[in-house]
Amino acid sequence: MIPLRIACIGKHGQTAQALAGVAAGYPSIELHQAGREAADLTDAAALEAFIHQTQAHVVLNAGAYNLVDKAENDEAKAFAVNAEGPRTLARLCNRYGVHFIHMSTDCVFDGAGTEPHTEDESPRPLSAYGRSKLAGELAVAEEYPEAVTARVCWVFSEFAESFVSKAIDWARARPVLQIVSDQIGPPTYAPDIAIALLRLARAKVESVRDLSGLLHLASPDAMSRSDMAGAIMAESQRQGGPFARIEPVTTAAFNAPAKRPLNARLSNARANEALGLNWTPFAAALERSVAGVLNRTAS
Ligand SMILES: NC(=O)c1ccc[n+]([C@@H]2O[C@H](COP(=O)([O-])OP(=O)(O)OC[C@H]3O[C@@H](n4cnc5c(N)ncnc54)[C@H](OP(=O)(O)O)[C@@H]3O)[C@@H](O)[C@H]2O)c1
Repeated sequence: MIPLRIACIGKHGQTAQALAGVAAGYPSIELHQAGREAADLTDAAALEAFIHQTQAHVVLNAGAYNLVDKAENDEAKAFAVNAEGPRTLARLCNRYGVHFIHMSTDCVFDGAGTEPHTEDESPRPLSAYGRSKLAGELAVAEEYPEAVTARVCWVFSEFAESFVSKAIDWARARPVLQIVSDQIGPPTYAPDIAIALLRLARAKVESVRDLSGLLHLASPDAMSRSDMAGAIMAESQRQGGPFARIEPVTTAAFNAPAKRPLNARLSNARANEALGLNWTPFAAALERSVAGVLNRTAS
């Protein structure tokens, strides 16, 4: 198979770590990753140097300002990282003839309705984070129409920090956790996203498909946040880890600083058709994720 050189930004994040694990199984893939220290999204010279050093066929941006609540009071920083960073990358990739895959979020939608959001639907973000990510999508499309923006949602895994590691941490400290029950989304296993991104990268390089624009990478199984938290607690207890009782609350009662879409479902029909994807069943993915988190955090 033709070698595929990928340069990934956001090395220490969940998707990037999952990508490293999956790519290690493919000798034809040469994965270069840089964290904020080497490739800060607000440092155009560092991004350009990273692209040159790696001689990448594909640049993947898995870095982001992801502090959804904090962004409400830090919108300028969120825009610098989530909008201007991707704009710079798209411009550089276009200039140097390198394929570009960017990542975005369900938070570009207002979450109306109960059907999965499609790529054709008009976005209407409810939060500063969502606005910054939408601005990033638009900047990428403007600078480099051939680029792909992959929207993902409720990503979880054994890697970095996710809802799984957070819920287990909270359960170490509190016997009862209040979790919202009216936000419904598709918990999506980071290694499944990594496989999809690698297929997408290969499809771009080999021009087997004419893929550009938006692509939703999300599991077909949707559930509430409180049901997801309940499943995490049950699996943690089953594996000898901490347990807390889940108390479902409404989003209105929880009153977080940033508004989140109540319907976070994303339709994966376009991605499945283009890339032939399989999604790990939630129970199997959760078992691996909880095992990894408990193993990592065992004292
Ligand atoms: N996690 C989710 O549930 C979720 C949901 C929807 C969309 N997404 C999107 O999916 C993509 C990947 O998310 P993820 O969950 O894998 O990310 P993550 O685990 O939150 O990691 C994000 C990474 O971005 C890095 N970063 C922050 N500021 C940066 C900067 N100025 N320059 C370069 N890197 C910077 C962070 O570096 P440090 O390690 O140095 O802090 C971190 O390693 C992002 O675009 C995110 O918006 C994620």
